Amino acid sequence: MKEHVVEVRTTISESDAPMSAETLMLLDEARRIAHKAYAPYSRFRVGAAALLDNGEVVSGSNQENAAYPSGLCAERVTVFYANAHYPDAKIMRLMIYAETDNGPVERPITPCGACRQVLLEKESVQGSPIRVSLAGADSIYNVGSVSQLVPLSFVPKSLEG
Ligand code: THU
Repeated sequence: MKEHVVEVRTTISESDAPMSAETLMLLDEARRIAHKAYAPYSRFRVGAAALLDNGEVVSGSNQENAAYPSGLCAERVTVFYANAHYPDAKIMRLMIYAETDNGPVERPITPCGACRQVLLEKESVQGSPIRVSLAGADSIYNVGSVSQLVPLSFVPKSLEG
């Protein structure tokens, strides 16, 4: 039997104070939009803010539903909004912020598998990396591309056989 070992390296660069103007702007926006999340069931509010290559910043929050699986995460709301309004724009960077009723999460959250898949599609189609920034209590954790978060991925090219 053959064994194939696939290693995916994820490099996380931590940026703490002083944060750049861009980082602070995206963090502010992700936080602002998280406060508006519709999350009556989990009480876990998430905000995502995307910086586009046309200079626009778009953002979104998680949207829950009494039929639980019908809800959507903040990251997908944001990517789909960006695609709907600016279909030709690339996403340069995505900031993700989360909070509970006790305030901001101590440890940053990472996008769920379904959101990684949607982000990966965007990254594949636009042909340039999306930097993913995860907001922690005192610092930001940056991953250079979505591909670093998805090993053995299924991408548009996979459909070519
Ligand atoms: N959620 C997000 O919006 N983004 C994530 O990265 C993880 C989870 C939402 C989904 C649900 O509304 C709530 O957080 C609890 O899972």
